[in-house]
Amino acid sequence: MAQYRIRPYQDGDYEAARTLFACGILEHVPATYRHLLQAGRAQLALLALVAAVRAAAGCWAPALGAAVLALLAAWPLVRSLATSYVQEALETDLRDIRAAYVEPPDASFWVAEAGGVLVGTVAAVPAPEPGVLELKRMSVRRDQRGRGIARVLVREVLRFAEARGYGAVVLSTSVVQVAAQRLYEGQGFRRVGAASPSLLGSLLCFQIFDYRRELPAGPRAE
Ligand SMILES: CC(C)(COP(=O)(O)OP(=O)(O)OC[C@H]1O[C@@H](n2cnc3c(N)ncnc32)[C@H](O)[C@@H]1OP(=O)(O)O)[C@@H](O)C(=O)NCCC(=O)NCCS
Repeated sequence: MAQYRIRPYQDGDYEAARTLFACGILEHVPATYRHLLQAGRAQLALLALVAAVRAAAGCWAPALGAAVLALLAAWPLVRSLATSYVQEALETDLRDIRAAYVEPPDASFWVAEAGGVLVGTVAAVPAPEPGVLELKRMSVRRDQRGRGIARVLVREVLRFAEARGYGAVVLSTSVVQVAAQRLYEGQGFRRVGAASPSLLGSLLCFQIFDYRRELPAGPRAE
């Protein structure tokens, strides 16, 4: 397998970076659906639906039909969670990567390249909280995973933050992005919050996890 190297984003990376990000998010749709099916709240709601239809109709066939319909209807809803997130990113910061991450002085976007092909991305941008940097847009191409590329990308962001005197790095990931959770925990991040991103997210038992890693530099002088 070709060696990889980390380098700053260039304009020629635009399409590959956007595609890599979108694929990295959309691949979690089946896991999000499984997560919903395993959630006690969802199972209870399904049972309640079956019981209600059974009581109203007086026989099992419509009750089971309603359960199947509910399960089928959940799939596009779960998918829409991921597609709307991807759409929003592609229409905001990833629409003009140069303006979002290359031109601002305290932001950056790195790519991992192997054999002349873009295989990983990560970005950093100041968070709303002063003195805190946010890590975003982490994604590694499927056939290049397990080689330590993401770990090196995280360290690049940590170095960047320390060099600029930031006191902490924050990021968000989701309940189903287990590889990402392990990655960040292995790099010293700890989970500091969990919340549903929307009413739909809440209905689908989907949560966003917030992570934070303090840096030795302490709070940044403003
Ligand atoms: C999460 C992701 C970026 C990891 O990329 P990677 O290059 O394969 O990760 P690395 O090889 O650098 O692994 C670093 C650590 O991550 C964790 N990790 C990586 N893949 C894992 C997996 N499949 N299961 C559990 N932990 C995993 C491990 O802790 C690993 O350390 P170890 O090798 O000492 O066990 C990659 O799976 C990905 O792009 N996923 C889809 C997009 C995504 O979820 N992005 C995160 C957005 S917040």
